[in-house]
Amino acid sequence: MKKMKFDMNNSQVTSNQWRNQVFAKIAICLLFVGFAFRFYFSSSIQIFSFIYEHDDGKLPTPQLPVVANSTLSDQIPVYNSTQEGSPECDVFTGEWIRDPTGPRYTNHTCNTIEPHQNCMKNGRPDSDYLYWRWSPADCDLPPFNPKTFLQFMTSKSMAFIGDSISRNHVQSLLCILSQIEDADEVYHDEEYRSKKWFFKSHNFTLSVIWSPFLTKASIFEDNDGHSMGPIELHLDELDLIWANQFDDFNYVMISGGKWFLKTAIYYENATVIGCHNCKNDNISEMTFDYAYRKSLRTVFDFVKKSNHKVNLFFRSTTPDHFENGEWNTGGYCNRTGPFKEHEINIRDIDMIMRDIELDEFLKAKQTLNGSGLDVRLFDTTSLSLLRPDGHPGPYRAFHPFDLKETKIQNDCLHWCLPGPIDSWNDILMSLLLRV
Ligand SMILES: *[C@@H]1O[C@H](CO)[C@@H](O)[C@H](O)[C@H]1NC(C)=O
Ligand SMILES: *[C@@H]1O[C@H](CO)[C@@H](O)[C@H](O)[C@H]1NC(C)=O
Ligand SMILES: *[C@@H]1O[C@H](CO)[C@@H](O)[C@H](O)[C@H]1NC(C)=O
Ligand SMILES: *[C@@H]1O[C@H](CO)[C@@H](O)[C@H](O)[C@H]1NC(C)=O
Ligand SMILES: *[C@@H]1O[C@H](CO)[C@@H](O)[C@H](O)[C@H]1NC(C)=O
Ligand SMILES: *[C@@H]1O[C@H](CO)[C@@H](O)[C@H](O)[C@H]1NC(C)=O
Ligand SMILES: *[C@@H]1O[C@H](CO)[C@@H](O)[C@H](O)[C@H]1NC(C)=O
Ligand SMILES: *[C@@H]1O[C@H](CO)[C@@H](O)[C@H](O)[C@H]1NC(C)=O
Repeated sequence: MKKMKFDMNNSQVTSNQWRNQVFAKIAICLLFVGFAFRFYFSSSIQIFSFIYEHDDGKLPTPQLPVVANSTLSDQIPVYNSTQEGSPECDVFTGEWIRDPTGPRYTNHTCNTIEPHQNCMKNGRPDSDYLYWRWSPADCDLPPFNPKTFLQFMTSKSMAFIGDSISRNHVQSLLCILSQIEDADEVYHDEEYRSKKWFFKSHNFTLSVIWSPFLTKASIFEDNDGHSMGPIELHLDELDLIWANQFDDFNYVMISGGKWFLKTAIYYENATVIGCHNCKNDNISEMTFDYAYRKSLRTVFDFVKKSNHKVNLFFRSTTPDHFENGEWNTGGYCNRTGPFKEHEINIRDIDMIMRDIELDEFLKAKQTLNGSGLDVRLFDTTSLSLLRPDGHPGPYRAFHPFDLKETKIQNDCLHWCLPGPIDSWNDILMSLLLRV
């Protein structure tokens, strides 16, 4: 599975070569999918509902090994945004470098950090993970400037749409912005999964909208994330919770992800077309990649048809770092520093997801050319893969080792705040200011 290599190191590939490589990659990916699924289904795993307690974090992770030591660029084709014909630097290729200045906020200065991600407060003993920042190979990435950002966003609105990782991302942004202005929370849904904040002095509205599939889904889970039946997922219908508000936003950061690995019954034209892992003889089994691709296509078709000229970022999947087990089989993430590129390999499942994302994004991007609508890939997969040290691990809970009797649950998927996810916002800022 690991023998397939693409020579993506050559940064001088012409766009034709590059396109050919994309096609080759897709072909190879199909092979990959075959392999991955054989592995996936031959092991007797269920796609579980996660018990990251109430509100979500209930993200399933597949039972595939973290394979260390192969070259990252062999595995993840580099998406070099300059190859779209713009002269900008590819901010997603680079390395994590030491940054003695440390984070811009702490658990003292930011009071909106979600308890499960408040690693400092929860007693995480090491702090080296706070002293790194992302440094692109071809240009400088200045630290996020909250003042400039808020000036830029004056009288505008921005939404983050996706699963709990999107909320993680927005909370990092809120903490960084709180240096200049504390936002008023003006809306939350019953489960506190979707929220809206208003920055009075800048007339700026920031939203996070919980829509883990982006398309219409009926999810049957109790508050602890235990599944009470398969998800009913309509691949060709949008989740109206965000689509109905789409015209209100000037900037949107949208993303899909690991919820697509869950047991689900798939619908198209309001008719059951198959299911993933539902173990019902009357419904044919389908792989999640079909559903993911189809749902993303539904999203991009909507964006293409929309008359609303939004600036849209599409974020690629975020990798987890469970080692020596999965979230439910004792997997943990206790590393205290970043990986170098050659020390970690992307998991097959993340590779498959990102390939679908890249593929569907590029198709949409092509047809949107000249439409006045700006879509950009926010390609944080590989830079995030290098940060196994950035997750709460056991410190998703307050002083987890004080309570000896309870079972420790590790979170190697979400990110500590402050932590590596703050760099996503440095990148966001640099992309916004280039507009
Ligand atoms: C991206 O592409 C541009 C133009 O082809 C090239 O100059 C640049 O070095 C590339 N960057 C990376 C990181 O590959
Ligand atoms: C990865 O492989 C290289 C050489 O192929 C070796 O020098 C290095 O120690 C290996 N790293 C790990 C983490 O095993
Ligand atoms: C912040 O974290 C430190 C430990 O790093 C802890 O002692 C302190 O109580 C926390 N403060 C708040 C306000 O949560
Ligand atoms: C605030 O922003 C909205 C657009 O988001 C705009 O319609 C409104 O006029 C602005 N209000 C002020 C006082 O600038
Ligand atoms: C759904 O309906 C459309 C248009 O009526 C049709 O083209 C498509 O094949 C249908 N899809 C399925 C899975 O039945
Ligand atoms: C499959 O369909 C048959 C006939 O409609 C029904 O008797 C049976 O209970 C169904 N099986 C499942 C697992 O739903
Ligand atoms: C991580 O945990 C494993 C298993 O408990 C242990 O062997 C290893 O030394 C730990 N690593 C660090 C950096 O704490
Ligand atoms: C977009 O369109 C312009 C002219 O209409 C063309 O020069 C450019 O190559 C197109 N870009 C892409 C990525 O297709």
